[in-house]
Amino acid sequence: MNISVIGTGYVGLVVGACLAETGNDVVCADVVASKIEGLKKNILPIYEPGLEDLVERNQDDGRLSFTTDIAAAIASADVLFIAVGTPPDEDGSADLQHVLAVAREVGKHMTREMVIVTKSTVPVGTAGKVAAEVRKEAKHPFHMCSNPEFLKEGAAVDDFMKPDRVVLGVDSEFARRMMSEIYAPFVRTGNPIIFMDIASAEMTKYAANGMLATRISFMNEVANLCELVGANVDMVRRGIGSDSRIGPSFLFPGPGYGGSCFPKDVKALVRTAAEMGMELKVLSSVEEVNQAQKLRLSEKLRDALGDDLHGTRIAVWGLAFKPQTDDMRDAPSLTLIEDLLEAGATVCAHDPAAMGEAKHKLNDRITYAETNYDALIGADALVVVTDWNEYRHPDFARVKSSLRRPVVIDGRNLYDPAKMAGLGFTYHSIGRQSVEQTQPQRVGEYA
Ligand SMILES: NC(=O)c1ccc[n+]([C@@H]2O[C@H](COP(=O)([O-])OP(=O)(O)OC[C@H]3O[C@@H](n4cnc5c(N)ncnc54)[C@H](O)[C@@H]3O)[C@@H](O)[C@H]2O)c1
Repeated sequence: MNISVIGTGYVGLVVGACLAETGNDVVCADVVASKIEGLKKNILPIYEPGLEDLVERNQDDGRLSFTTDIAAAIASADVLFIAVGTPPDEDGSADLQHVLAVAREVGKHMTREMVIVTKSTVPVGTAGKVAAEVRKEAKHPFHMCSNPEFLKEGAAVDDFMKPDRVVLGVDSEFARRMMSEIYAPFVRTGNPIIFMDIASAEMTKYAANGMLATRISFMNEVANLCELVGANVDMVRRGIGSDSRIGPSFLFPGPGYGGSCFPKDVKALVRTAAEMGMELKVLSSVEEVNQAQKLRLSEKLRDALGDDLHGTRIAVWGLAFKPQTDDMRDAPSLTLIEDLLEAGATVCAHDPAAMGEAKHKLNDRITYAETNYDALIGADALVVVTDWNEYRHPDFARVKSSLRRPVVIDGRNLYDPAKMAGLGFTYHSIGRQSVEQTQPQRVGEYA
């Protein structure tokens, strides 16, 4: 099948590469020429495990190509996926300007009957708006499909190749048939394709992200209360996660959620409800709790070092909003770093994948360390923000000897408080009792 994907960001590139992998002829188009030039040479604009191999192989085999010629991409498509960004507008609603700009081009350049798929996360009613734009100039019949994407950055290729489910909102039998054909190779193990009306499909994506964000904010509040009442949130998490009605996923407390989806999708859903005259009380609180949680690491740092951080040097491990990605959109690391810089501290940071992205966002306002250990040299404290695997079992003797003061603030509960106490660290984590510096035992006893 001839498929075109407009927008080659995290979603569009994964969708395009995976659909080429199952034998389709795929054209990926984007307005950013430098991105397309890089992709033609198999240079990816993002870090996503497994994606580079897919792009290279399918490009070599001639099933995947990249272009800035949006009109040509539209003209060659039987099925067109719109995967452009939908950032938050000033009032929190999803900004549809990119989606509608593509829709206007589709009407002008389509050459055959086609299915137009909204892959971007868009509010209920958007497929109708896209159809209205296309209809203004369309010379061929077309069909709409809302196909929300549930991939997780860091595991995006796997998630797309082996989805828990595929949600398809369609308005015709033609669209249903074409989309069934496209997705058949991805659901061979029996995971469902769930067909529904377009409004329900659009709503499903927001409801899913709203639910996941709610679990995170709920657990962050539980964690904060655990600290006050002397409970251990890790135990509480295991205690409730083993209940089959609750399940273990998305119960880890931390420094607040970030990334390109939860913050904007929660805001957009709250906004959609407001436009309908309804207040989404739960989700409004979820957002409020998350904003406060993003400041928890700075608060803990002040608990450990004192209120005046002026002149201190802080090592930060982890800049991406989660491991296995270079995405820093709305990352908790940014809230922490901005607060530290404002307080007069200096920051030296490390991240295995997001240093390039961080340099774009923060320039030379902080320094960047080549290794996580280099970041520690002469620092007054270490703050762990992202739970990259390589931070899980560090050489604690080296950590301690590199730091000026043995202070570790752990935003991901990676380390054992008893062990940290034994090693002589002052150690603060999320939802567990803090430990203050004591006489250290030998590191080897805990290794
Ligand atoms: N990133 C995720 O994990 C994820 C997961 C599920 C859904 N989504 C949704 O998918 C959509 C895309 O997200 P993303 O993270 O891939 O965004 P992104 O910002 O990484 O990529 C968007 C791409 O669209 C391009 N673009 C913008 N306007 C264009 C136009 N008129 N023509 C051609 N290209 C254009 C941009 O240059 C950019 O390369 C959003 O609606 C997002 O909410 C994202």
